[in-house]
Amino acid sequence: MSVAYDAPAVRADSEPFVSRSAEVDRLDAVLERLADGGPSVVDITGEAGIGKSRLLTEFGVRARRRGMTVLRGQAAEYERHSPFQPFADAFAWVGRRDLEAVPELRELPAMLRGSFEEASSGRWTGDRFGLYQETAAVLGRVRGTGLAVLLDDLHWADPASLELLDYLIRHPLRAPVLLVVARRDRQTPMVLTTALTRGVDTGAVLRIALGPLGERDCVEELARDLPPRRAAEIYAASEGNPLYFLTLLQAHRGSRPPLMPSPPLSAPAEGPTGSGPRTGLEALLLDELPSLEPLERRILGATAVLGDHATPEMLGAITAVPVSEVVEALHQVMKRDLMRPSNAQDLIAVRGDG
Ligand SMILES: Nc1ncnc2c1ncn2[C@@H]1O[C@H](COP(=O)(O)OP(=O)(O)O)[C@@H](O)[C@H]1O
Ligand SMILES: [Mg+2]
Repeated sequence: MSVAYDAPAVRADSEPFVSRSAEVDRLDAVLERLADGGPSVVDITGEAGIGKSRLLTEFGVRARRRGMTVLRGQAAEYERHSPFQPFADAFAWVGRRDLEAVPELRELPAMLRGSFEEASSGRWTGDRFGLYQETAAVLGRVRGTGLAVLLDDLHWADPASLELLDYLIRHPLRAPVLLVVARRDRQTPMVLTTALTRGVDTGAVLRIALGPLGERDCVEELARDLPPRRAAEIYAASEGNPLYFLTLLQAHRGSRPPLMPSPPLSAPAEGPTGSGPRTGLEALLLDELPSLEPLERRILGATAVLGDHATPEMLGAITAVPVSEVVEALHQVMKRDLMRPSNAQDLIAVRGDG
């Protein structure tokens, strides 16, 4: 994906953005001190689904409002053989307005602008160190309202990108240029963690470790259509991970007619919730499996939505049934070999899901 920042793919989400005012304030403070001895790299870390990409997007919107040029790139799991892939993703495809605002972008080494044909298949034997120096020199010449480069999913970055990043952390730019990187902490290669942590120690890097969203924000802002108690149960099952929270909400909304009052947690399995509009996947499963009990069908549907993240607790929250009943129904479904336990402890996956 290569996009200039005003492309629709990186506009702020139309859904509300909640619970991250402290993080946004910290980012604003970095912008205030940019090129003035403050950090020139921001390191956003956290588990999958916690909101790293969304924070990058919101941050990009704010930086743009200040008149900065914002470019965004993403490391891809299957492109680790391409040197500088996330940088090239960000720099390969800049818009005319970006080039007018930051003409230095034209001077970046071709390797960083996506010209890595010579390098694919490992033929690139160029002077790496020289290339890092050149890149830092070009970025260091940026003036005016400045440049923000957002690099997502850096836990998948290729080795050359990691080296370049390490160089830029060791030699902080004295220019209005900010790099904001996002990564899953547990999947990050040790060299990157080490480089960033060293930068935190020297003051070159500001780390923002994302934790769960606040319960009140989720219940009051993201689940207004649900009775607060029900929303609180879904929040508890999600453990504050916004991806899980939104997925559970969606599954919950899809499993009941709209605006139906929520049944109590102990409602019997054959309550009204089984007859609502269904998601495509759910409908498919239900058509294939007419002989299942209603609770078993709903569990299958919810597991199809949740994928590898399904736990008995989450399924209980979606189906509004005590966990003990969920576990019993799971046993029945597994006996029919329609579902299998996942490798990870306590997780469940629909059979054939990989
Ligand atoms: N602060 C937030 N407020 C509302 N929704 C959020 C928030 N953070 C993340 N989300 C939503 O949660 C989902 C997962 O977030 P995402 O940024 O993709 O996670 P990550 O990049 O950490 O895997 C997305 O749909 C995103 O829009
Ligand atoms: Mg992400």
